[in-house]
Formats: sequence, structure tokens, C-alpha cells
Amino acid sequence: MAPHRPGLLVHNAAEIATLAGGVRRGSAQSDVGLLASGETGGTGPHDPALAAYEGRIVAVGRLSHVEAQLTEMGIAESSVVRLDALGGTVTPGLIDPHTHLLFSGTRHAEVEMRQRGHGYLEILAAGGGILQTVRMTRAASDDELLDHGRRWLREMLSHGVTTIETKSGYGLDTSSELRLLELAGRLGAEGPVEIVPTFLGAHAVAPEYRDTPDAAGAYLQSVIDEQLPAVIDQGIAKSCDVFCERGVFGVSLARRLLSAARDRGLDVRLHADQIQPSGGAELAADIGALSADHLGRVTAEGIHALSRAADEGHPVVATLLPIASFYLAEEHDAPARSLIDAGIPVALGTDFNPGTSPAPNAQLAMAFAVHRLRMSAAESLAAMTINAAAALGIAASHGSLEVGKHADLAIWSVDSHALLPYWLGSDLVRTVVKRGHVAYSAEAMIR
Ligand code: NIG
Ligand code: FE
Repeated sequence: MAPHRPGLLVHNAAEIATLAGGVRRGSAQSDVGLLASGETGGTGPHDPALAAYEGRIVAVGRLSHVEAQLTEMGIAESSVVRLDALGGTVTPGLIDPHTHLLFSGTRHAEVEMRQRGHGYLEILAAGGGILQTVRMTRAASDDELLDHGRRWLREMLSHGVTTIETKSGYGLDTSSELRLLELAGRLGAEGPVEIVPTFLGAHAVAPEYRDTPDAAGAYLQSVIDEQLPAVIDQGIAKSCDVFCERGVFGVSLARRLLSAARDRGLDVRLHADQIQPSGGAELAADIGALSADHLGRVTAEGIHALSRAADEGHPVVATLLPIASFYLAEEHDAPARSLIDAGIPVALGTDFNPGTSPAPNAQLAMAFAVHRLRMSAAESLAAMTINAAAALGIAASHGSLEVGKHADLAIWSVDSHALLPYWLGSDLVRTVVKRGHVAYSAEAMIR
């Protein structure tokens, strides 16, 4: 086995998109903090390089500066892995700020049901959809769920992702929700992909409540009174989410839950205005959510509320999930251009889940953002790195290549970040580094 070397030096990059400088909004969303190579094509002393030591970035800039920094820190060459970017592009590791990783079974039959005219919410109201996955997930063993989680995490990593958010939400009772959060915590501890867990007990009305009068209100109250305190005691979830949608949980119920969660110290986020406009964006702004997710049907008032929150210095990240609206063949995509023009920070996620986005590839979300939401390649990269980190409340340590931050990065087999969403369907990842160590390599290239 090769000796453990705590240092890393990435060199021979055509460019490094550092994304340095914090969360992006408005015209700054297209600033990727670019360091580009000069005439030597990536190998000269003035070409961009990056060094890390014990998992943290210690230098980013010209190769001569980065090497000098390592020397100054007294780091011997023998303790540094030299990673040749082979003239490719280096970016922060992608961050997927919205997934539903832990579930059992598939729901491919719903595609044909929708093609025959049955809507997503109609299938849910009839006891299918999310509730179908709840039945299968409750019946699955821990090992089955862990194996499933590992299988998809491996694939996400191979697409360039180093951190994901993931939600519970296919348990819908206290012990099942706690189990999903515990399994998410275990997978995150296993690594290499880091996991930020979210409690989504309010994903749908639990089957046990369906025949109760005011089923949504009664179930939501049980989420507040029973599930939430247990989730807080367990201490794994970082935030609380709710499917705020007409016919599922309306704005006043969503507000009740998110206020309770916030009062107990959790960050809050919500599935907002996904299929129908419901005032979810306004609620997100009003309650100080970290993110408002989906926004396919956000209204002008909703955009205004998010814009005002951003201008007042407490931005809610608009986390757009274009694969889900594509997969549901929705007529409406999130109005990314209006959101960016209104000064709202935009992030992107896959929404990986069995019902609306069986798609683990973050590169696909970026491509859809460009080709369907009219975002630029640069905007889409900011959305899947620093702004995704902001959506998870981890932008101080993740999402950009800056000294002191976690050395999480991806090396791509193209010489410009502008090409990432261009080669549709091709996997462009060469190497993924998590906390300073190579976690995935498409081809052997450590020299
Ligand atoms: O983000 N719409 C709510 N939740 C998920 C879908 C979950 C499912 O259908 O299983 C979403 O689209
Ligand atoms: Fe979702």
C-alpha cells in the first residue's frame, strides 16, 4: 500500500474555477473566480495550481506561489501527492443540496400513468406516489437501505459530487423517520461523500391518518408533537423541510411546523411552489429559510419576497430542480432568469428520488439549467458549488477553492468550465478529491 501522504498538489490545469468570494447573486452569479493558464498550457510557474494539507486548502494561485507556500510551511515533497490535471479544468467538488437518497423500490409505472393523464398529486391522493415508496421503505431492512444508499452515493461521487443534502420523508412515523436519519448519518460517517441530513416528516400525510378528519392538520400536529422532539433528541438532522403544496400541506400548516423547528434550533427549508403556486416562496422569505426549493410555479409576489429578503441581507437560496420538472413533463420550469435578475442566489440540485427525479447525476442538473432554464454555464457552476453550500449553511467551509476550506474538488476532462454543460450526457469527471484525498478516478493519473 502506498504510504499515506497528507499533502496534495494539483498542477497542469487549463483553469481553476475557484468560486472564491462567497455566495453569488445577480450578475455575480456568473463570476466563477477564474484562474486560467497562460501560454505554457498549464505547466509553467505562472499557471494555476492548488495545494492542500491534511484535508484543507493551503494555497491556490500560480504554481510558483503554491510551491513556495508548501516550502514555507515546511512540507516535504515526499509527503505531497502530485496530481496532474492533464490540462483539464479544476472546480470545487459539486454539492447536491436537495436529494431524497434513502428509499426502497422504483415507481416507473407512474410514468405511464401520467402519460395517460393522471397527475402527480392525483396519484399521491389515491395512495400511490410518495405513499407507495413509504410502504416499500418501511418494509426494507437497514442493510437494504444502506446498500441502496452506497450504490447511489458511489455514482454521485463519480459524477463529481463531494457533498449532498439528503432527507428522511419515506418513513412518516417517528421510528421510521429516525431510522432514515440514522442511516443517513451512518453513510455520511462512512464517506467519502459527506451528507447533510434533513428531517422531512411532513413529506405527505402518513397512511395511518388518511381517514382522520382534517388529516393533514392532525398528521402535521403529530409531526410537531412527536416526531420533531425525537428528531431533536437524536441530533442528526440539521434542518427541517416540508412539502408545501396545495393538497399536501398548505402554507399555514407549513409555517406552523417550520416555526416549531426553527424555535428548536433547526434550520428550515421547504418544497415551495413546485406544482401549483401556493405562497411557499413568500413563507420561505418570511420565516428566514435557508432555501426555497423547486419554485416551478413561483409567483411575481414570491419572487418579490425573495428579492427583498436578499436585499435586506438574509438571502433565501432558490434551489432549482430542473430534472424534476422535466421528468414530470411540467409545463412550467422555474423562472431562473427572473430569480437571478431579482438578485436572488440560485442553487441547483438533482432532487434524486424515485418519483420525480430518478437521476443521480449533478452534471445533468447543470445541463438542464443551461438548456431549459437559460442559465449560463458559469451561473450553473456557481449554483452547484458555492450557492449550493449556502443553501446548506456550509458556505464558510465548502463550495469554493479558498485557503482554509475543505479540499473537495473535481478535475474535468475539458479545458474550460464553459464546456461542462455542453457535452450532454457525457461524464466529464476525471478525478474527485474529498478532504484532500483522491476519492474517485476515471483513469489512473497520479504521478
Ligand atoms: O421533490 N414533491 C415532493 N417531494 C419530491 C418527490 C418525492 C416522490 O415523489 O417520491 C420532490 O419532487
Ligand atoms: Fe424533493
